[in-house]
Amino acid sequence: MPPKHRELATVDSIGDLRTTVAAWRGAGQKIALVPTMGALHDGHLALVRAAQADCERVVATIFVNPLQFNAQADLDSYPATWERDVALLSEIGTDLLYAPRPAEMYPEGFATKVSVSKLTECLCGVARPGHFEGVATVVAKLLLQAAPDAAYFGEKDYQQLLVVRRMARDLDIPTRIEAVATVREPDGLALSSRNFKLSAEQRRRAPHLCRIMREVAAELAAGAAARPSLDQGTRALRHAGFDRIDYLEMRDGTALGVLQRAEPGARLFAAAWLGDTRLIDNISVV
Ligand code: PAF
Repeated sequence: MPPKHRELATVDSIGDLRTTVAAWRGAGQKIALVPTMGALHDGHLALVRAAQADCERVVATIFVNPLQFNAQADLDSYPATWERDVALLSEIGTDLLYAPRPAEMYPEGFATKVSVSKLTECLCGVARPGHFEGVATVVAKLLLQAAPDAAYFGEKDYQQLLVVRRMARDLDIPTRIEAVATVREPDGLALSSRNFKLSAEQRRRAPHLCRIMREVAAELAAGAAARPSLDQGTRALRHAGFDRIDYLEMRDGTALGVLQRAEPGARLFAAAWLGDTRLIDNISVV
C-alpha cells in the first residue's frame, strides 16, 4: 500500500526554487504555480487540481505576505496551519512547495512596489488601501522567481484576479494567468481562509451573504435598475446580522465599471463584516 502522505519536497530560497524548476523545464515539462498564504481549504486544492490538469509540474507557494495586510492585527491573526497545509498539498500530489521566509522575499533595503491603477480604485481597493499593491508586488515577485508557464487564482478574489492579470500583461511577464471557479460550502458560503475565524454563531449567519447576493442578482438579471435592488440587498444584509457592509455593487467583469442595469459579463460584488471578520464574495449576474 502506498504511504498516505509522501514526503513533500520543500524549498525556501529563490535559488533552490529556480534550480528545481530549471531541471523540469530542461526535461521539457510545463510548470504551474499556485500562490497561497496557507490556511488551505478545498478552494486551494481546486487550484492545484486545475494546475495539474494543464501542466506536468505544480509548485504551490505558502507565504503570508505582510505587504497586503492593512492592519498588523489582521496579519497577526491570519490562521497558521502549516502541518495540515503540507499534508494536504502532499496528498494531492503537489510537486514542490516554495515557502520563502520574509527576509528572502523582502530583504533588507527592499524598496520597490508594483502598483496597478484603475482596477484597484474601487471595491476592496477603497476599503483596503495598499492591499492590491501588496498583492501585485508579491505575485510579480513569485512569477519572476518561479517563471511558471501558468499561475492559478480563484474567482473568489475576482478583483485580485483582474489585478494580477493586468499586472502580468503590463509588465510583459510571460505567464498565463488562469481563473478557477469559486468553491462553496453546501450552504453557499464561499470557501475562504477567513471562515476559520468565524464563531459558530457567525458561521450560521455567513451563508446569508451568498443567499442575498443570489436574490439581488436574480432581480438584476430580470432587468431591475441597480440602485434600488442594491439598496434593498444592503438592508437585507444588515437584517441578516452583518455588522458592516463595505459594498454591494454590480460592475462589469472585465474593467470593473459600474453598471446601472445588467448586461452580459455583469457581476455582483460584496464585502461585509461579521464581528471582526470581513467576508467577500462575487457572482455572475448574467
Ligand atoms: O489570494 C491569496 O491568497 C493572496 O492574495 C496571494 C495571491 C497568495 C498573494 O499573497
